[in-house]
Amino acid sequence: MTEPQNPTEHPRAIRSFVLRQGHMTPAQQRAIDTLWPQYGLDFQNEPIDLAQTFARPNPKVLEIGFGMGTATAEIARRLPDTDFLAADVHGPGVGNLLKLVAEQNLENIRVMRHDAVEIVENMLADGSLDGIHIFFPDPWHKKRHHKRRLIQAPFVAKLLPKLKSGGYIHLATDWEEYAVQMLEVLRGFAGLENTAADYAPTPAYRPETKFEARGKRLGHGVWDIVFRKR
Ligand SMILES: C[S@@+](CC[C@H](N)C(=O)[O-])C[C@H]1O[C@@H](n2cnc3c(N)ncnc32)[C@H](O)[C@@H]1O
Repeated sequence: MTEPQNPTEHPRAIRSFVLRQGHMTPAQQRAIDTLWPQYGLDFQNEPIDLAQTFARPNPKVLEIGFGMGTATAEIARRLPDTDFLAADVHGPGVGNLLKLVAEQNLENIRVMRHDAVEIVENMLADGSLDGIHIFFPDPWHKKRHHKRRLIQAPFVAKLLPKLKSGGYIHLATDWEEYAVQMLEVLRGFAGLENTAADYAPTPAYRPETKFEARGKRLGHGVWDIVFRKR
């Protein structure tokens, strides 16, 4: 994307990520080169038919920010009847997840390397999702960076129409103050109901993620939040 000439005229969107180069291993690069045609999905500016993408009508879950994808692959293995559209912007992670998908013959994952905010805004039809997973989104600890946090009311307002009635949104974080914000944001939507009094027990399908393990080593707690669309 080219930078606008006059940033005040076309203000740059505040993004929830900073693209770092990151080291791509030869195996990850090879996975991108060879497996993208089969398991990768390019961004497009109009809604896609997910049933066609996965060649079956089964439940569809969007995962935003899969990181290295180890939890994504494990969840897809545990839930073979559900299809997962997994999005991240981080190249090495994309290569890693493609590699896991091929190694484990996971036909129920498609990988996207694109800003999930734009995917939600442009590429998903209303009522097309049965679930949304956002596990350990970047906590953006510093107050002046809070504006970069993914879980804020304007983004949730864009996410909700994409869910079917009865569909769920499952968030997890290791940063307590962000957990409080997540709960507050989701509670602000009358169209959503909490499946628990506040924080939910970790659902059986969610294994420990890489970022979660790191948080635990640092002594952080873990909070899962699961709301359902009425
Ligand atoms: C802290 S990591 C957590 C990764 C993984 N879920 C885990 O628990 O190990 C957050 C991830 O979200 C990704 N991310 C942040 N904003 C994103 C966006 N708008 N679209 C897609 N991915 C995003 C980052 O690239 C990063 O890989």
